Amino acid sequence: MAKRIALIPGDGIGPEVIAAARRALEAAAPGALEFTALDWGAERYLREGRGMPGDGLETLRQHDALLLGAVGDPRVPDNRHAVEILLGTRFGLDLYVNFRPVRPLAERLCPLREIPGASLDFVVIRENTEGPYVGMGGNYQAGTAQEVATEIDLNTRRGVERVLRFGFELARSRPRRRLHMADKSNAMPHAGGLWQRVFAELKPQYAEVAAAHLYVDAMAYQMVRDPRQFDVIVTNNLFGDILTDLAAALQGGLGMAASANFNPGRPPALFEPVHGSAPALAGKDQANPMGAMLSAALMLDHLGLTAEAGRIETAVAAALAARECTADVGGTLGTAAATEAILRRLRS
Ligand code: NAD
Ligand code: IPM
Ligand code: MN
Repeated sequence: MAKRIALIPGDGIGPEVIAAARRALEAAAPGALEFTALDWGAERYLREGRGMPGDGLETLRQHDALLLGAVGDPRVPDNRHAVEILLGTRFGLDLYVNFRPVRPLAERLCPLREIPGASLDFVVIRENTEGPYVGMGGNYQAGTAQEVATEIDLNTRRGVERVLRFGFELARSRPRRRLHMADKSNAMPHAGGLWQRVFAELKPQYAEVAAAHLYVDAMAYQMVRDPRQFDVIVTNNLFGDILTDLAAALQGGLGMAASANFNPGRPPALFEPVHGSAPALAGKDQANPMGAMLSAALMLDHLGLTAEAGRIETAVAAALAARECTADVGGTLGTAAATEAILRRLRS
């Protein structure tokens, strides 16, 4: 039976990169997938006052996996439709693991002098349902000189434990068996203290994993100084957001970075490039489609189509090696031609 895939192209460059990813999926796994395209995004918000229908989560639950481009549009105040669609899906489906691998597919993509791209292979596990993203807080005396704004950083015992446990399990399954937890417990002892205590509790249960802690500022420093030391990183929602843009730069930039959001064993999972809607590039045939294609490969892998996922990765790596790619990764092609360069390799 074909797997049912919901496509949410979204805004800006989202539709361009999702069209490319869909073609890569059709070439790598012919007949294995059937697609439903959902027109959720800014246009819909501007038209109807909502970025997605009220029963949108129900629609998503009828699929085996979800592939999203990007949401974000300067015409929508506070990008509230993006919060509705993206955070609404992550939270509403309880997709507590945000899995963001860092593995440069060509040597030249790592911008650090003396660090060969091939020596990097780590993954950031970002907690995806809590932290300051929950939208708790408010404004008092808004617009006055006395205005007060709060944004609550919510951390639950259950939320911290399940994501740390996932990180330990993942680290145990990888050859290097290393895990780093990053927090800011030296300045924010309430939330950080909970992360520290749960981390200390789990460590002895995973004695075969070499587990260490870094404050998140020190981790940002180490990630630039020598990222080869990292294997699995687990951190909270906000720190994970920031660190994974930094980590994207280590593998060729935001145009290359892929991600998966999931609740282990409970479909559907959501796959998306780490980049946003890049409004300045939209409609100009300049966006790199590789991050979306590699996210589609993560999706195939997650669906058990491992060989098909490998075919996409191999084709992307071959196009990069031949410099048949967009300008952000050292080529001269537009989105359409860069997509063709990959499709040609997938078909042969
Ligand atoms: P962005 O990722 O859209 O762009 C950051 C930089 O990376 C820009 O210079 C852009 O040109 C470049 N870039 C991004 N994707 C690229 C690609 N595929 N190929 C080549 N270059 C690429 O981040 P931003 O500018 O901070 O945000 C723009 C909008 O996207 C905002 O509304 C933001 O909220 C939203 N956003 C959405 C998501 C998402 O949907 N998952 C993620 C991040 C940002
Ligand atoms: C990401 C994005 C989102 C986030 C935004 C658009 C809400 O930056 O997926 O990394 O912060 O999670
Ligand atoms: Mn981000």
